[in-house]
Order: sequence, then C-alpha cells, then structure tokens
Amino acid sequence: MATIGLIGSGNIGQAIARQAVAHGHNVVLSNSRGPETLADVVAALGPLASAATAAEAGATGDLVVVTVPFKNYTRIPAEPLGGKTVIDTNNYYFERDGHFPDIDSGRTSVSEVLAAHLPDSHVVKAFNNIAAAAIGDEAAPAGTPNRRALPIAGDDAEAKKTVAALIEEFGFDVVDAGPLAEGRRFDRDKPAYGPHLTAEQLREALAQG
Ligand SMILES: NC(=O)c1ccc[n+]([C@@H]2O[C@H](COP(=O)([O-])OP(=O)(O)OC[C@H]3O[C@@H](n4cnc5c(N)ncnc54)[C@H](OP(=O)(O)O)[C@@H]3O)[C@@H](O)[C@H]2O)c1
Repeated sequence: MATIGLIGSGNIGQAIARQAVAHGHNVVLSNSRGPETLADVVAALGPLASAATAAEAGATGDLVVVTVPFKNYTRIPAEPLGGKTVIDTNNYYFERDGHFPDIDSGRTSVSEVLAAHLPDSHVVKAFNNIAAAAIGDEAAPAGTPNRRALPIAGDDAEAKKTVAALIEEFGFDVVDAGPLAEGRRFDRDKPAYGPHLTAEQLREALAQG
C-alpha cells in the first residue's frame, strides 16, 4: 500500500484517486482553494482518502500526481516533491493555458516544462491521453482481450517502473514511449491521444506521432 499525493483534484485527480483507493492505496487530495473544499470528495472516497494543502499532499505522497490546468504549473511546490516520482497528467491547450512559444515551436514539451520546474523530482508522463471517466470505465484485468494500453515517458527507469506497476494495477497494459522528451508522441492531436488502443496499436500510434 502506497500513499499517493494528488496536486489537483478535478476530473483526472478524482478518477485516479478512485482507482487508487479501490486498490487499497491511501490518497491525499489537494486543490488551489484548500482542503475544506474537498470534504465531499474525501467522504465519497472513504477512509483511505484525506485532504491537505498542495505542499502537504506533495510531502506526504510516496508518489505524487500533478494534475492541474497546465498554465498553473509554476505554482506547484517544488521542494516537497524533491526526490519523488511525479506523474504528470497535464496537457497544453493554448485556448485555456495561453501560448507557450517554446512548446508551440517544438523546442520543448509539456512534461519537460514541468520537469524543469521540478528539477529534483523524477517526472513520468502518464494518464494525459485518456479521458477521466475511461480510467475507471476501461480498466480490465491483465490478459483481457483488447485490453487498453497506456503510454508512459520519463528519464528515470525506477520511476517508470513504479508508475508502470500502478497503471497495470489500475487495469491497463503499459507501453514505454522512451525518455520524457518522447512524451510529445502522445500529446494532444497525436494518433495516441484519446483512442482506446491495445499495446500493439499504441506502439504503432506512438511511432506515427
Ligand atoms: N479531463 C480529462 O479527461 C483529462 C484527461 C487527461 C488529461 N487531462 C489534463 O489533466 C489536467 C487536469 O485536468 P482536469 O480535467 O482534472 O482539470 P479540472 O477538473 O479543471 O481540475 C483541475 C484541478 O487542479 C486544481 N488546481 C488548479 N491550480 C492548482 C494549484 N496551483 N495547486 C493545486 N491545485 C490546483 C483545481 O483546484 P481548484 O478547483 O481549487 O482550483 C482542480 O482541483 C489538465 O492539464 C488536463 O488537460 C484531463
């Protein structure tokens, strides 16, 4: 049993928290407004869930999930996340986030930007290409025909192993897309972004991306 700290507790944060609790993990949720605003969400998740500030959720988690509107990444507290594996679910939507010229030009990518903000953390890109509801709805036991596969990307092998094990436990196959910079292969508008794909189909989609 691990403790998963969530920085951001909206659609994706809550979907991940539900799966984590269902598999016996503790979750510590946080948002921008304060733990008291998460009382109903915590009550619905049950005794393995609690709420805290973002810094506390980050400090408490063995594993931390950053799942906020991308434009808010500068407000993620870096120090409590030092040395930890951090899952980055974020996507860049210029319509919501404003333009980031270095991403628009391809000089960098969403998760590399977060990793630069969290230089002492091991950032793994995951869960960004699946709709929140599908994290519960499309989960299936290992070996199920047509089981959905999810991609990961990251620069730290141990961190990727940890995240891959969690995704497997949640009910998905995992395809390693390579280093964090390769995470752009499953960003918005890429073939791997959105659809239900098996591991084989996902590898093909990543190659096209
Ligand atoms: N929705 C999807 O199906 C989906 C799928 C894959 C990836 N994503 C990506 O994942 C990220 C989260 O998406 P979402 O749909 O879950 O968003 P959402 O429902 O709008 O939730 C965002 C959460 O982030 C919190 N937040 C915002 N700024 C924060 C800060 N500075 N510190 C701590 N918490 C903060 C918000 O708290 P407050 O409400 O208190 O501000 C809220 O709990 C986005 O980048 C999105 O593009 C979404």
